[in-house]
Amino acid sequence: MSVTYDEKKQVFKLDTKNSSYAFHITPDNRILHLYYGGKIPETDITHMLRIPNDEPFIPSDHDAMGPLSYDCAPIEFPTSGVADFREPCFQLMDKNGMSACECVYTGKYEIINGKPRLEGLPATYSNDGDAQTLELYCTDPANGMEIVLQYGVFEYCDVITRSVRVKNGGKDNIQLRRLLSCCVELDRMDYDMITLYGTWARERHVQRFPLRFGKQSVDSNRGSTSHAHNNFIAICDHTATEDFGEAYGFALCYSGSFLAMAEVSQYEKTRVLMGINPYDFAWELQPGESFQAPEVIFTYSGTGIGQMSRNLHDVMRNNLIRGKWKNIRRPILINNWEATYFDFDSDKLIEIAKEAKKAGIEMLVMDDGWFGHRNDDKSSLGDWFVNENKLKGGLKKLVDEVNKIGLKFGIWLEPEMISPDSELYKQHPDWCLHIPGRHRTLVRSQLVLDFSRKDVRDYIYGRIKEILSSANIEYVKWDMNRQLSEVGNEILPPKRQREIWHRYVLGVYEMQERLITDFPDLLLENCAGGGSRFDAGMLYYSPQIWTSDDTDAIERLKIQHGTSLCYPCSCFGSHVSASPNHCVGRITPFETRGHVALPGTFGYELDVTKLSDEDKQAIKGQIAEFDKYNPLVRNGDYYRIGDPFANDRYDAWEFVAKDKSEALLEYVQVLKEPSVFLHRVRLKGLEKGSYYRCEQTGRVYSAEVLMSSGFDIPSLWGDFRSYIAYFVKV
Ligand code: DGJ
Repeated sequence: MSVTYDEKKQVFKLDTKNSSYAFHITPDNRILHLYYGGKIPETDITHMLRIPNDEPFIPSDHDAMGPLSYDCAPIEFPTSGVADFREPCFQLMDKNGMSACECVYTGKYEIINGKPRLEGLPATYSNDGDAQTLELYCTDPANGMEIVLQYGVFEYCDVITRSVRVKNGGKDNIQLRRLLSCCVELDRMDYDMITLYGTWARERHVQRFPLRFGKQSVDSNRGSTSHAHNNFIAICDHTATEDFGEAYGFALCYSGSFLAMAEVSQYEKTRVLMGINPYDFAWELQPGESFQAPEVIFTYSGTGIGQMSRNLHDVMRNNLIRGKWKNIRRPILINNWEATYFDFDSDKLIEIAKEAKKAGIEMLVMDDGWFGHRNDDKSSLGDWFVNENKLKGGLKKLVDEVNKIGLKFGIWLEPEMISPDSELYKQHPDWCLHIPGRHRTLVRSQLVLDFSRKDVRDYIYGRIKEILSSANIEYVKWDMNRQLSEVGNEILPPKRQREIWHRYVLGVYEMQERLITDFPDLLLENCAGGGSRFDAGMLYYSPQIWTSDDTDAIERLKIQHGTSLCYPCSCFGSHVSASPNHCVGRITPFETRGHVALPGTFGYELDVTKLSDEDKQAIKGQIAEFDKYNPLVRNGDYYRIGDPFANDRYDAWEFVAKDKSEALLEYVQVLKEPSVFLHRVRLKGLEKGSYYRCEQTGRVYSAEVLMSSGFDIPSLWGDFRSYIAYFVKV
């Protein structure tokens, strides 16, 4: 059993393979966190509480157990206004304008084998009983709020999930002012925090800094996860490395504005919080109405940051990503965006398709610019009607021709947007998010459709459905190219206006759920101006996400390294693109571009008709490599060996089969140094006592030699060169 309840000690404990998470119910039904860390056997652990005795200036009550000092007690679900002055999870406004609230255990709990769905939201799910759920029923006696703390336990991969559902069980309306999904109280402060920051074309770079007293956070108030900060954080020992030390990783399964915070109190303890950003959030609950907060997926590793990532990769690959494409090889696609931008027609696409087919590519994806009168990024979003000047004879004709050539066909859509220069905007100027009487700010010349509105969603979904039903379209790239501003509409009453941020996200989820339900064979790839909505929420709908518009192999080292802290490589949209690269002008070998794209979904983003014969030939080799290694990439354990943020000389990573039978080492020499021959790289994760044959050198090595001494990378001439080595257990 993953979930145990020691009735005598009033301790709930959630156990995974290598971790335990425990909390205690006090005699007056407060819920106090006890422990989260390496696995412990016993439940007699209330001594861990360490709450000071009647210190001056600490607000405290006395209950049957002794003094309970709210401001330094480890509170499982902290609430606002009741003498815990740290950041709370829960705050509301009652009919009297009071914002204080409490969370008191009712004595009712439920342990469920499996994992119930979260209404309207993405969340992890259980396969054949690989998860257990604990639901703890709580209340605020002063206002009748019902609060259900929800815990999921994935024992096999050391992952716990948390979320919370609240219901207005009182007689009066209540306004939720904040409802964070989870609070994890850690009993120390000597930690580092790791976050993934960035901007367009430079997403998810890694920053790591020591925690200090006070609050440190990352967030988004942009309505989507954002390029600026990802909704993942890690908390780890100062000394933690990839392979050593304690590390906690937290990922929010949500795609809108978020808050992720670590607060260090004056008592040197750390409170970690995550959830929907309370900034500009409010939600009206009439009596009987409920609100479900999104899920936080978190893990503990006692053996370094690498294992933290592998735990998250496992749960996302097995228990978050769904559908037909969950774990099968994806078709190798060629996307025309960097090949043509807006300047294409069906002849050009056919030309690309023919050449792509010869090279062994399997799908053509038609990117932005095929609809309305869109010849640049200034018009036509919302006018989802084929531009027959470009696609002569229509979409079906093009798709049929591409299919006849032997390629599948995929299409780009940006359903959430509207251009002021569009027929749709002429007819429905009120369909975008807007505040009456206020200027409508444009980003990339576009406004955001109000997906909190069912009529708007229904119209757009109708268009999408018609397009996808009109031809044999097997893949959709769902793009989203701006942040939300002037968030309001003329539909909801004033007291419900602040709900639009979250209603918008629910609307996006509802649309994508409809799409993959109606078209179960469709391969969906999410994208948002590159990787600005790369999050666990989106992975519930699409098994792959476009990682970044920066396709330069060397820039991608950092982007993919950062992204891999939380997300499995097999969901990284990654393509070989032209050189010089369109984002940075860097010239890199074709081979290196292939090797850097190899751990992801793999494809091409260039004009194949303009490639040299040598590069066209190289594509065949790259596809063969992809075929050979993709099962290992999809199912194996990922190990970071190099760190592109720590050195500009090389990067390396490795995939090891779960049964340790094979391993793939990838190495990129970033800058060549003179007089350094044979860089030796130590492998990880192999089976001690076993021997491995390296396909490239033909030599057999013991796992111990490969992991303790290392493998010699042959001398590579020039910058930006790459090398791969494949090992099979003998
Ligand atoms: C942003 C995406 O990230 C690109 O790949 C491309 O699809 C453009 N949008 C098209 O406008």
